[in-house]
Amino acid sequence: MTTTPNPQELHAPDEDTRLHLREDLLAWFDEHQRDLPWRKTSDPYAIWVSEIMLQQTQVITVKDYYTRWMQTFPDVQSLASADRDDVMKMWAGLGYYRRARSLHEGAQMVVDDFDGSLPSDVKGLKKIKGIGKYTAGAISSIAFDQVEPLVDGNVERVFARLFAIPGDPKQTSNQKLFWSIARDLVDPLRPGDFNQSLMELGAVCCTPKSPTCLLCPVREHCKAHALGDTASYPAKVKRAKAKPVQSESLVIIANTPTPQVLLYKRSGDGLLAGLMEAPSTPHSPRDTRYNKSNAMTRLASLFESEGLGIPLDSSVLASAKHVGYVKHLFSHLDMRIHIFLVELDAWPDGFVDTLETSPSWSLVSTEELSHQALSKAQKKVFRSALSSRESSSD
Ligand code: ADE
Repeated sequence: MTTTPNPQELHAPDEDTRLHLREDLLAWFDEHQRDLPWRKTSDPYAIWVSEIMLQQTQVITVKDYYTRWMQTFPDVQSLASADRDDVMKMWAGLGYYRRARSLHEGAQMVVDDFDGSLPSDVKGLKKIKGIGKYTAGAISSIAFDQVEPLVDGNVERVFARLFAIPGDPKQTSNQKLFWSIARDLVDPLRPGDFNQSLMELGAVCCTPKSPTCLLCPVREHCKAHALGDTASYPAKVKRAKAKPVQSESLVIIANTPTPQVLLYKRSGDGLLAGLMEAPSTPHSPRDTRYNKSNAMTRLASLFESEGLGIPLDSSVLASAKHVGYVKHLFSHLDMRIHIFLVELDAWPDGFVDTLETSPSWSLVSTEELSHQALSKAQKKVFRSALSSRESSSD
């Protein structure tokens, strides 16, 4: 009787291959790893911060954010006791803001429930807000030398090529396969370095396009390379296209005598919760022909909607000028933000007093704008509004 081997066995590297892969990857990592600030520490909190920042964001962008973050919140206690506004300010521009809110909440959990120290094991780590399977594997292996595997997008690509694994890398059966290979392969003596060497290889050598196989330390083990077909692994899968949507932002500036703008702080826990913005309408499907009077209706209802009642009278809206739009790609939304500008000589009587009683609103000088918790999209909105104002006053 013949038995069909299960796909896991088909791809599982034998003991000899495992030993070679470990040795070659670690030797390469020792010589070629990039000099990155989070590689100079074994502080579990610092590793946690870096790993959360590195999800969905490139190393080059993360470096500066990480350094500033660690200067401001050097340990889990300082993060736990920080004001959410200050946490969001430090994250502003990195995107995927839920990561910052979870890191903050996670730090509070560590202080309240774990005596201020991160647990070393995957099971304990996964109890903390924002720490999933990947981050738990990264922290326990890199900071605590636990023999735990991890799989991220880079590791998926490296494995798909090394073992010529067909199909969508995100499909459940392939995810199981990647995690089981990672568990088999992780080096028992240097698990953290080994895991980082796999990710590093994916980031700098086994890249999505034009991998540099000639410089690859494990090319002699690579099935895709042997087939002369690295381009087919991992399989390319069409993901849903970002939806074209639009919204409107209202930039209100008063020359008081130094120019100030009105900012709104988003509440709840949606996409951009906790960030500041020029008051903006919720996004809606993109109009093929953008219509200013529809936009005005949407802005008027924004004025009236509960909790967003800007204490300014309707003549303010009537003077709003459409000064163009900016584009921004959120993960699943292709956003076009139309910008409306209102310029006032001064804030109306009583307006400043009213704002002081309302925590969602603030007035900020245009010079201080760059220090606010603005998303990248809102930075573009203000840059565009302010430059249109400068060019019209030339
Ligand atoms: N991507 C995410 N974390 C990483 C790490 N520690 N080393 C290399 N690439 C990474």
